[in-house]
Amino acid sequence: MRTSDHTQTKERLLTCLKRHRQSWVSGESLSSDLGVSRSAVWKHIAGLRKEGYLIRSSPKKGYSLEEVPDLLLPAEIREKPTTRVFGRRDIVYLPQVDSTNTRAKELAGRGAPEGALVITEQQTGGRGRRGRTWFSPPGEAIYVSLILRPRITPVEAPKMTLMAGVAVAETLLSAISLEARIKWPNDILVGGKKIAGILTELSTEMDAINFVIVGLGLNVNIGAFPDELRGSATSVLLETGKRFPRVKLIREFLGWFEKYYAEFQRTGFAPLLARWKYLSDMIGKTVTVDVLGSRHRGEVHGIDEDGILILKDSRGDYHRIFSGEVLL
Ligand code: BTN
Repeated sequence: MRTSDHTQTKERLLTCLKRHRQSWVSGESLSSDLGVSRSAVWKHIAGLRKEGYLIRSSPKKGYSLEEVPDLLLPAEIREKPTTRVFGRRDIVYLPQVDSTNTRAKELAGRGAPEGALVITEQQTGGRGRRGRTWFSPPGEAIYVSLILRPRITPVEAPKMTLMAGVAVAETLLSAISLEARIKWPNDILVGGKKIAGILTELSTEMDAINFVIVGLGLNVNIGAFPDELRGSATSVLLETGKRFPRVKLIREFLGWFEKYYAEFQRTGFAPLLARWKYLSDMIGKTVTVDVLGSRHRGEVHGIDEDGILILKDSRGDYHRIFSGEVLL
């Protein structure tokens, strides 16, 4: 799964073509810049065209990159890195898959390293929490799963969901100035409607974690939702009236996530928790939480150091809610 020499050469070739975007660069200079034969250059050009890059060629002038496809291609994600580990080497790109989380779990089970990503354009069996499906039309949203191997106990795993939620909210804020809010534990809302969801799945052994999969579904350029979602779902396009480059959002998300993840490993959960409290806007509000069919009503007192929701009921008793759904 590691980025092969072949892929590295292809990506360097792409960088050269981008530097001369819409002007010509000769096969000869590409071959000497990259240290490969001219026929190797030609083969990589053919590979890029197959991926959707529009590259003109002329026997006299060489090659010219005319158009970059609107796809979540690994070369595009890696082009302007915002991270040191997440998505730097191991990106599995699939034009279509049942669920990126399912595929990431398989890869992690076979030893894929921390920071590896599975990305797709379309999911045929996208999964949400509580057995729900995740609306996953082609080419308009982000479906990505990240493999993590944190040194934490299973009970601390909710921290990873909170961390991903903060990273998504920061991304929407910094890249698009969208005021996103986090609804515990894993919904990202804009104007009260869901724009993104996070599905965290674990593999554990006794009281240790083998790996965590953090799956993100982010509605970017979806222009219309099916009837049953229309009242509750939104997208970047619907909120801003503009399409946004998905690759940029993935890069931004990975940057924020890695920043918080590294900070968590260095100094603990407190800085993230402070930011979560601000971005969730839930503290002090009275909510009902559904926990496997039983309902708990109370005031949101906070999140404890394990990432668990603390509710204060009308008698003043505190309840720790490990997992559930806040009903607004
Ligand atoms: C939720 O809000 O219930 C969580 C939704 C998570 C959806 C993402 S899309 C990428 C990854 N693969 C999946 O099958 N699900 C997650």
